[in-house]
Amino acid sequence: MLGLDLCAPMIAAAKQLANGQDDYRVADAEDLTFLDDGSFDVAVSYLNQCDLPAIESNTREVFRVLKPGGRFVVVNVHPMRSAAGPWMKAGDGATQHYILDAYFDEGARRWSMLGENFTNFHRPLSTYIQAYRQAGFTIDEFIEPSPTAGNLALFPELDDELRVPNFMVFVLSKP
Ligand SMILES: C[S@@+](CC[C@H](N)C(=O)[O-])C[C@H]1O[C@@H](n2cnc3c(N)ncnc32)[C@H](O)[C@@H]1O
Repeated sequence: MLGLDLCAPMIAAAKQLANGQDDYRVADAEDLTFLDDGSFDVAVSYLNQCDLPAIESNTREVFRVLKPGGRFVVVNVHPMRSAAGPWMKAGDGATQHYILDAYFDEGARRWSMLGENFTNFHRPLSTYIQAYRQAGFTIDEFIEPSPTAGNLALFPELDDELRVPNFMVFVLSKP
């Protein structure tokens, strides 16, 4: 098992949890030339493609390093959430609705959390689908995860995820 991230502290943190059967490296997910063709059974991209200004090179590189029959699981921010936002609140703080605007405007979105500024990239659903198909992948599954009753009992604040999807999961395979 090989884990990659461009951010050295993320890799250092992963190494602290290593179990001896895994390896972690600082690397650019858009350039996997240090990996052989057809050398992996499965690849997982977890909330990374939303950080990439373009997803084509990462998608092509993952296709190349997978074995035929290999799978690529891509977990991402749902474009319904990355287009504009945020939730609109009433005067009493009640959640009213979510803004969906500028959906077809691909590009950088700037936002802040815990006092830090972040940039990630919005693109419509069709851009993801075209990139995956152009790289040669077939789409096996598309999942919009939402919280279960059990999740909501533990984390009631997740109820807005039953109203507007926050995440999406593509399960792709290399023929
Ligand atoms: C939203 S975070 C998710 C991190 C981790 N996958 C997780 O779930 O905790 C996005 C990650 O993508 C990494 N990243 C951004 N651009 C990258 C690139 N070109 N190659 C590899 N990693 C990149 C960032 O350093 C960051 O750790």
